[in-house]
Amino acid sequence: MHIYKVGGAVRDRLLGRPVSDIDWLVVGASVEEMLAKGYRPVGADFPVFLHPKTGEEYALARTERKSGRGYGGFTFHASPDVTLEEDLIRRDLTINAMAEDEAGTVYDPYNGQQDLDQRLLRHVSPAFAEDPLRVLRVARFAARYAPLGFRVADETLELMRLISASGELQALTAERSWKEIERALMEAQPQVFFQVLRVCGALPELLPELDNDTQGLAALEQAALHEEALHVRWACLLHTLPPASIKAVNQRLKAPRECQELALLTGECLAKAGQAPELPATAVLELLQKFDVYRRPQRFEDFLIACEMTALGEGKSGYPQADYLRGAAAAARAVDVKPLVQAGLTGQALGEALKSERLKALEAYKLG
Ligand code: CTP
Repeated sequence: MHIYKVGGAVRDRLLGRPVSDIDWLVVGASVEEMLAKGYRPVGADFPVFLHPKTGEEYALARTERKSGRGYGGFTFHASPDVTLEEDLIRRDLTINAMAEDEAGTVYDPYNGQQDLDQRLLRHVSPAFAEDPLRVLRVARFAARYAPLGFRVADETLELMRLISASGELQALTAERSWKEIERALMEAQPQVFFQVLRVCGALPELLPELDNDTQGLAALEQAALHEEALHVRWACLLHTLPPASIKAVNQRLKAPRECQELALLTGECLAKAGQAPELPATAVLELLQKFDVYRRPQRFEDFLIACEMTALGEGKSGYPQADYLRGAAAAARAVDVKPLVQAGLTGQALGEALKSERLKALEAYKLG
């Protein structure tokens, strides 16, 4: 049996980037041999094992064909006679289809090193089309490596167009799509992910709501430049959409709750926040209540950051409304409930009194 490092670990080492996790490929072994050596199987259908000590993933060399069953809709042919070249040829990109043995020798039958040098994301073979998720993966790699000057090869873009036009992207589960989108959002230039998807016709399939958008991408670009969190980036991306569309996207992709919530609140409240200094105190109070700023101050801060990013995305030099609203939130939060309780107020009456005190505080803040 021969064991190789494969995929991202080889690619990123050659690029001089940090290697996060290592995938291993085992050639010339059977399932039984792996089990006998103490490797633990991952799932029933998928020929992947965890190393008994390190817990790293070891996959048996395999060829793959499309099928309606098995892991993620695939069945696999894994057997000791599958060669290294046969395994590598069914991988997505040439830069991901290199292997390295224990001695550090790199096996590169599909010229991945040359494509690394030429900064090209190029598919290995027509087997690329077996997994439509690869359209999203390529766009994600484009977003990640854009700062290094990578681009998608023309022939790969053409294949991605064919896959998008075939309607196959519709078959992807929300979980698989979201995982790619989430990772793409956290890349260095996440806007590139959406641009590539647009160019290859995948955006109308996955996120038709964003097909004509430019402001969302500009805000997202700013959020990435400022290293903002995932949910802030998501809110930036969707900020121009009407709330009903934001809801629809959130639900279709099963985005995590924090992302869903901030995107929707941002869509609903961005315009109001933009006018904050001119608004009457009652409207500012309403905005603060909507965010439940008393119990969830961080969520309001995340919203203000998203607003700032949208302003920067529009080419403005800043967003003074954010500091104004920070001050308003602090004034409203400074109202002390204790004297009201001590005065014997409870329930609805206490709520009303608290609101009226906060309103007074906001009026004073406006004047000051
Ligand atoms: N792979 C593939 N097609 C997929 C998923 C994975 O061909 N749909 C192959 C690629 O060779 C890839 C390897 O499996 O390099 C490991 O996949 P994964 O761990 O998902 O990605 P990495 O390439 O390691 O990249 P990342 O840095 O994003 O984890």
